[in-house]
Amino acid sequence: MQIGFFDSGIGGLSVLHEARKLLPNERYLYYADTAHVPYGTKPKEEIRGYIFEAITFLRDQGCDAIVVACNTATSVAIDDLRATFQLPIIGMEPAVKPAVQANNHKRVLVFATEMTLKEPKFHNLVAKVDNEGVVDYLSMQELVVFSERFEFGAETVLPYLRSRLANLDLSAYGSVVLGCTHFIYFRPHLREVLPEATLILDGNAGTVQHLRNRVAGLPMETKTRGQVRYFRSGIPTPESEFSAYLERLEGC
Ligand code: DGL
Repeated sequence: MQIGFFDSGIGGLSVLHEARKLLPNERYLYYADTAHVPYGTKPKEEIRGYIFEAITFLRDQGCDAIVVACNTATSVAIDDLRATFQLPIIGMEPAVKPAVQANNHKRVLVFATEMTLKEPKFHNLVAKVDNEGVVDYLSMQELVVFSERFEFGAETVLPYLRSRLANLDLSAYGSVVLGCTHFIYFRPHLREVLPEATLILDGNAGTVQHLRNRVAGLPMETKTRGQVRYFRSGIPTPESEFSAYLERLEGC
């Protein structure tokens, strides 16, 4: 089976990384829309156009299922994508529910892009699971830009994180939710600025389990394959252009 992964850029590699552990033999296509990243600060109608272009491309390449490995794209387009394309489309949402459940009544802090936090999909999710009113949220949009530039130096990232968190009482939070796939790369930095006991949760494992359930009836590869073909906004791209990210994910 061939499974497509789509993100505005390199964030979705973190979801693909997880998928290859659970479904190691399948064939993968990875579409990074790096010509248009970041999505989180662009008008909704504009990014919907990019998303439809990417999913059409992956469908035309013969994908049997597609993972929208981007919370922002999921928030603005998942329902329309499912109504348009006749194949399993798996979306992502911030792991708010597991965070609330894990929390022992402490607060939950969700990091996501500006667009994700503006969309009704996020607020409906919070309304559904946050019975005690413990969920707060904060845009960490600049992390998308840093990661696309492969800018992971502590001297750049830590002051940004500290300034975003300056007005919060961090000891009140039992968990932080990474509601954008680009944020996974910053787990080591976040470990430095958050209290030791704070859990840092993401939705990647849950998304990949959901993928596995959705494709359960489809023919799996019988010979070991597991290869990935990469594209930047539809243009074939060698894996070497992404290998520094793939290596970094090992430590995140
Ligand atoms: N990786 C994205 C997400 O999960 C989008 C980042 C962006 O392009 O702003 O939300």
